[in-house]
Amino acid sequence: MKVADRHYRTIWPGEDGRSVEIIDQRWLPHDFRIERIDNVPGIATAIRDMWVRGAPLIGVTAAYGVAIQMADDPSDEALDAVWETLHETRPTAINLRWALDEMRRVLRPLPLGQRAAAAFRRAGEIADEDVGLNRNIGVNGLAIIKEIAAGKKPGEPVNILTHCNAGWLATVDYGTATAPIYLAVEEGIPVHVYVDETRPRNQGAQLTAWEMAGHGVPHTLIVDNAGGHLMQRGEIDMVIVGTDRTTANGDVCNKIGTYLKALAAHDNGVPFYVGLPSPTIDWTVGDGLKEIPIEQRSGDEVSFVWGKTASGEIAQVRVSPETTGAANPAFDVTPARLVTGLITERGVAKASREGLRALFPERGRR
Ligand code: MRU
Repeated sequence: MKVADRHYRTIWPGEDGRSVEIIDQRWLPHDFRIERIDNVPGIATAIRDMWVRGAPLIGVTAAYGVAIQMADDPSDEALDAVWETLHETRPTAINLRWALDEMRRVLRPLPLGQRAAAAFRRAGEIADEDVGLNRNIGVNGLAIIKEIAAGKKPGEPVNILTHCNAGWLATVDYGTATAPIYLAVEEGIPVHVYVDETRPRNQGAQLTAWEMAGHGVPHTLIVDNAGGHLMQRGEIDMVIVGTDRTTANGDVCNKIGTYLKALAAHDNGVPFYVGLPSPTIDWTVGDGLKEIPIEQRSGDEVSFVWGKTASGEIAQVRVSPETTGAANPAFDVTPARLVTGLITERGVAKASREGLRALFPERGRR
């Protein structure tokens, strides 16, 4: 998407053929910084410490991490070691394992001398594929927005609530939850987005709001606890979120707080949709509550908030007493029964084993 009139993806290969460049998301919305990374520990840090984040982007970054390793040492041992190192950076988003498995599947049969070039090629293809998947999610989600818009008075916006950042910054481009929104804006359909701030790391306030502002999407930032109230008052027409892992049964794991939004939506008859590219489906898992590992992050993310001070410094401030401990589960699971539909690249699926199997017949068997 565009930043200051230039088109950017969130990640691209370095010109030297041995590195990758990323938008370093830690500084947004205050500062737009690009980092070049040319070693595996650097890639692991970028994923773990969330210089890049969002399930699809984590996967693509890991794929480039494998490629960087292959440029240095293309041996089987190095391939297995980079798989392990990057796999343990973040446990919940399945795209990470998907991308690492895919890279190893492609590289393992190749002679050592061909592995580095093949790895950069495949990482680039995975990045391109992500853009295509999101574009198709956009088309399929746009049909839903259009249907809601058709029931409104001319000029009245479709009010959409979103949680966390499932925007272009969480993917290579377009985003999953945001792709239908961007297409709606392109087509001139009036939309208005309620952006959950998404504590503790404020991906909504810092990233989604920055995206919406940058692309001229009318939006309003709300605290995480406001969504239920707005739904009770009829001010939300639909919810669209992303997902870090969706099970073969249609249970949706996403940023902490998503479940509460789904409960409120269900109670108020507000449709609750999930933008779901197929690499985010974990076909090996049925019950999301029991089987998905939930990342536990540092309590410091709860006890402190980052922001820009009046003097222009980007800094963190403590919001709780120094002696108060904090728990920080980073994701939760929304049971399939609370999900209206899964917007995939192939169409909108019912959140159920049958629904997913109908769209992905080649993958549906356990
Ligand atoms: O902890 P994060 O910022 O990586 O979490 C991101 C999310 O939860 C997104 O909603 C999810 O990855 C979907 S991204 C298209």
